[in-house]
Amino acid sequence: MSLNVPWVSERVGRLVLNVPTDRLPRPAEPATPTSRFDGIVRLAAAGVGLVVDCRGPSLPRVLHWGADLGSPVADELAALAQARRPVVVPNVPDVPAAVAVLPEHAGGWLGLPGLRGHRDGRDWSTQFAVEAVECKAAVSGGTLRVRAVDAVAALELRLDLELTPAGLIRMGVSLRNSGDDVYVLDGLVVALPLPDIATELLELTGRWGRERSPQRRPFPVSTHIRDSRRGRTGSDSTLLLVAGEAGFGFRHGRVWGAHVAWSGNHRTYAERLPSGEAVIGGGELLLSGEVRLAPGESYEAPVVHAGYGVGLDELAHRFTSYVRSRPGHPSTPRPVVLNTWEAVYFDQNIDRLRGLADLGAQVGAELFVLDDGWFHGRRDDTSSLGDWFVDAGRWPAGLHPIVEHVRSVGMRLGLWVEPEMVSPDSDLARAHPDWILTAGGRRPPLVRNQAVLDLTRPEVSAYLLDRLDALIVEYALDYLKWDHNRDLIDAGSAAGTAAVHAQTLAVYALLDTLRARHPGLEIESCSSGGARVDLGILARTDRVWASDCIDPVERQTIQRWTGLLLPPELIGSHVGAPRNHTTGRRHDLSFRAGTALFGHFGIEWDLAGADEAELDELTAWVQLYKHHRHWLHRGRVVRADTADASTLIHGIVADDGDQALYAVVQMSSSVTTTPGRIRLPGLAPDTRFTISRTGPGPGPATTALVPVRWPETGTTVSGRFLAEVGLQAPPLNPEQLLLLQVRKHRSEER
Ligand code: GLA
Repeated sequence: MSLNVPWVSERVGRLVLNVPTDRLPRPAEPATPTSRFDGIVRLAAAGVGLVVDCRGPSLPRVLHWGADLGSPVADELAALAQARRPVVVPNVPDVPAAVAVLPEHAGGWLGLPGLRGHRDGRDWSTQFAVEAVECKAAVSGGTLRVRAVDAVAALELRLDLELTPAGLIRMGVSLRNSGDDVYVLDGLVVALPLPDIATELLELTGRWGRERSPQRRPFPVSTHIRDSRRGRTGSDSTLLLVAGEAGFGFRHGRVWGAHVAWSGNHRTYAERLPSGEAVIGGGELLLSGEVRLAPGESYEAPVVHAGYGVGLDELAHRFTSYVRSRPGHPSTPRPVVLNTWEAVYFDQNIDRLRGLADLGAQVGAELFVLDDGWFHGRRDDTSSLGDWFVDAGRWPAGLHPIVEHVRSVGMRLGLWVEPEMVSPDSDLARAHPDWILTAGGRRPPLVRNQAVLDLTRPEVSAYLLDRLDALIVEYALDYLKWDHNRDLIDAGSAAGTAAVHAQTLAVYALLDTLRARHPGLEIESCSSGGARVDLGILARTDRVWASDCIDPVERQTIQRWTGLLLPPELIGSHVGAPRNHTTGRRHDLSFRAGTALFGHFGIEWDLAGADEAELDELTAWVQLYKHHRHWLHRGRVVRADTADASTLIHGIVADDGDQALYAVVQMSSSVTTTPGRIRLPGLAPDTRFTISRTGPGPGPATTALVPVRWPETGTTVSGRFLAEVGLQAPPLNPEQLLLLQVRKHRSEER
């Protein structure tokens, strides 16, 4: 075995020795002069540190993503670069692979490659060289833009990395074909490194009526891929994929999570290789031949958002703080919604709707949303999607009578639409059978009796824009509930190629145009409930409908996990009828309303069937929501780790720390007779707080033999005591919710 000649890279000043295996395991140390570390970028924000090696010539690699390291001096940066430097061991490339933000096969990375594509079979493997690095570090966070080229494959890459002031990483990447012929792009994903201690994965799955159910699994050497191929985000989409220290919870254990901001097919993955390297990342999931870049054309990947935290609460806080910092984030008080769907379904009778509006106004609702059933010929879900004209039979004078009535009782108006869909039994489908997405000359299977329009055809988008615009103008609509009630199957364009990518962009463009024309209009993203929840759609909508299921037992879980990504004001949450329409369970109003209170509150209940006592109690809940929403929708969401899964505890702490609302939720009966103490996390440890039960009505039902004495007048303890010791919880009956108000003790106030 011969000793290879040492190889020196001029550019980075690094010495790498290839040594015979019999001299292992002591590879030579590199001679790296500290003065040459000017290509290492260090960003920090909100307790998060990001250190990126941009010295080239290969693509940037992240040296550290996790807790802020303070201000490392050059020596420490050098040590950090070395600590992450792969070493030569038997049976690996002589220059081991260093995983870049876009992992490349050419460097020896044997995990998922960041870029997959080819030029009629050629240029299938790339090796980009960095051409320019532009870094703008701010006091909090900063941006990094890297331009790289592969002259052989004739491709150009632009990588944009941002550490936001909230401590969230945003990674964008675009690819340009600088060659003379077509480059077929098969996939483009970006990834960030995970440390060895991230040995457990948390992901979400779901179905209609039960979105965002958590699943946990060990994360050994393996590739764990979550692909969504539904042509929409999907009710089973993971939302976030989280890797963390074994046993991590809401309040403990370091976690690293990624989210792909895209409403079409997408991939989120975590991978640990036998080399010990691990990454988490994602991107769009492209169908065969979907993206073909002509000379000079570019592809822009969806932004991957990545967060770090000690405990899921901190991770979620970074995501929600970033979401709140976006310029378009709703800033006005979130109005109490009255939605007609579970109240009247398709029975859109003017007298019934007027009555509903009157009762809605009486209890304090502020936005009346006329759901499905108002348009031409729509009597049930078997027909009429696409015919976005008011039904002349039901509404001979148009929607004006109900619109005027709703406004006369002081509410704003919203309308349900499902623009991307078409019923075969519709005038639109009869006139334009070729407007439907299809493949192979077949008709894709119908779902809920409907097919999907091909919005990549300009005339289809133009028709929808025209109809939506006309409705918004005629009725001065304040709000659209924008639905999308099926997965895309065989979604091909007229050209015969797969169209999910282009369809997703066309929907975004339609939404963007409408919003530009109607800046005051708010839009809700609904998709068979919560199947379109992602930061791509939320860049052009104002809230999501988290699920069609408004049973509070189910909603507790759905909202808890949707809250990993979104703050409460973006999560639509309605009070339904006493007996839930989806599950058949019956619940007290205090459980239904106490659950809705922690989202964007609304009502979806035929109030004509409610008695006076129920209307009075509902009015009081609406008042409670209105009283607190200004701080609830700016506060920090906290969740306690409970040993007994039958009890959930969550709350919102005001951003000034002066007050908080907590819900203690008994999901099912407990194994133990008394529940023990409940800990309320998230309050300033050295401040004293007064705790009392709040909420209308007599309080939740308990199994105690003597009536429970609720702390109506207040118990006063420190934030530290509440987080570490807690209060004795009352033995609640199953499916009951106790609402606790926590206020800074008077003597603490200045
Ligand atoms: C979907 C939505 C519901 C409702 C119906 C109307 O299922 O998720 O909220 O709007 O459509 O058809």
